Amino acid sequence: MCLGNICRSPLAEGVFRHLVQEAGVAADFEIDSAGTGDWHVGEPPDPRAAAAALSHGVVLSGRARVVTNGDLRRFDQVIAMDRDNLEVLREMARGHGATARLGLLREHDPLANGQDDVPDPYYGGPSGFEDAYRIVSRSCSVLLAGLRSTE
Ligand code: 4NP
Repeated sequence: MCLGNICRSPLAEGVFRHLVQEAGVAADFEIDSAGTGDWHVGEPPDPRAAAAALSHGVVLSGRARVVTNGDLRRFDQVIAMDRDNLEVLREMARGHGATARLGLLREHDPLANGQDDVPDPYYGGPSGFEDAYRIVSRSCSVLLAGLRSTE
């Protein structure tokens, strides 16, 4: 879950998909991403995000969509890329029978060093996308390991 659903959350979706496939546990997971804003609905991932992912062998897919109340019932976990987006999810969850655990991706980042947010790379240069990829990648690895250990 991020703002535009064209940069950070497609990276997280793509990386997590890649990891579960590598681990042979893809059938155990339903993975998707969405945004809290609607400016880019229907668009594919930002080419800069796609290029950063591809340089690590990860193919991004999907089209941007807006998060729904239904997502907060359908998924076990909805993971926000930053605190602003988490706040939007918490607000949505109020009074809608939401059952998903809401959290931040960097809760799982072993190198977070007190930082809660995956910085938004949209307005910056290519290095921001590589940074976002690295943060997302190591966080998703730890997230998956934790989920598998509680299976
Ligand atoms: P994302 O990045 O939330 O990681 O997909 C952004 C994409 C678009 C915009 C902001 C952030 N925007 O303002 O259009």
